[in-house]
Amino acid sequence: MIDEAAKLLARSRFVIAFTGAGVSAESGVPTFRGLGGLWKHYRAEELATPEAFRRDPHLVWEFYKWRMRLILKTKPNAAHMALAELERMGILKAVITQNVDDLHREAGTERLIELHGNIFRVRCTNCGYREYLKASGRVEKFVGKKSLPKCPKCSSLLRPDVVWFGEPLPRKEIDEAFSLAERADVVLVIGTSGVVYPAAYIPQIVKETGGKVIEINTERSGITPIADVFIRGKAGEIMEQLLEKIKGLIG
Ligand code: OAD
Ligand code: ZN
Repeated sequence: MIDEAAKLLARSRFVIAFTGAGVSAESGVPTFRGLGGLWKHYRAEELATPEAFRRDPHLVWEFYKWRMRLILKTKPNAAHMALAELERMGILKAVITQNVDDLHREAGTERLIELHGNIFRVRCTNCGYREYLKASGRVEKFVGKKSLPKCPKCSSLLRPDVVWFGEPLPRKEIDEAFSLAERADVVLVIGTSGVVYPAAYIPQIVKETGGKVIEINTERSGITPIADVFIRGKAGEIMEQLLEKIKGLIG
């Protein structure tokens, strides 16, 4: 299976990757569904919705700061690193991720489309203010604060710049992702249950426009029925092997 995937990737002209929580599992970021899934301990519908934020912004911010602290302690794993290297090699053209953890960027991926936002970005609930806390060097201070974060421009409440249940995806990102999917001749789907739409359309679009689907997952997923190659295993371990095989093939 890995050999077959390596061959497909080595002779492709436009590869994209589509990733989910499973790509960060080996870094120690909990996934949403399945064993150890985040939402088993914290009900998603209680915390990751606009209604919950209106009802109890303190609770929602507490939850997000807890997740920010947890993610800050993690680092990219071999899967994130291999994807960044495949991009530098000119094979991979973009990474489309459902993750908000910023680990693809930390690994060095340049063309990154974040469909569900970024946990280290905040935005104003009233005006257009946005801030990437890592760039302004304010993450540590931000997560340490007990009071609700306020907009420096208009003093309204700030919120995490992530997509909540029932909210639309950012227009620019979804348009870019869909057009990349139309162009792609191979999509590398890694660590996603493939059940959350519209994100899960991405591999389907690649398939419908004549491309191949390679999937890496520890279990079967919603994508597996359309996968041309399914590799069962951990993202980091498999990607490391896959990268070596591709290097062997292209010399
Ligand atoms: P899920 O938690 O639904 O799925 C994680 C997937 O990763 C599962 O299919 C696991 O089998 C697989 N997996 C776990 N560990 C792995 C490993 N080491 N290597 C490879 N695969 C592994 O996460 P997502 O599919 O990303 O949305 O969830 C999609 C969206 O649902 C999230 O972005 C989030 C959530 O609601 C929003 O927050 C809007
Ligand atoms: Zn504002």
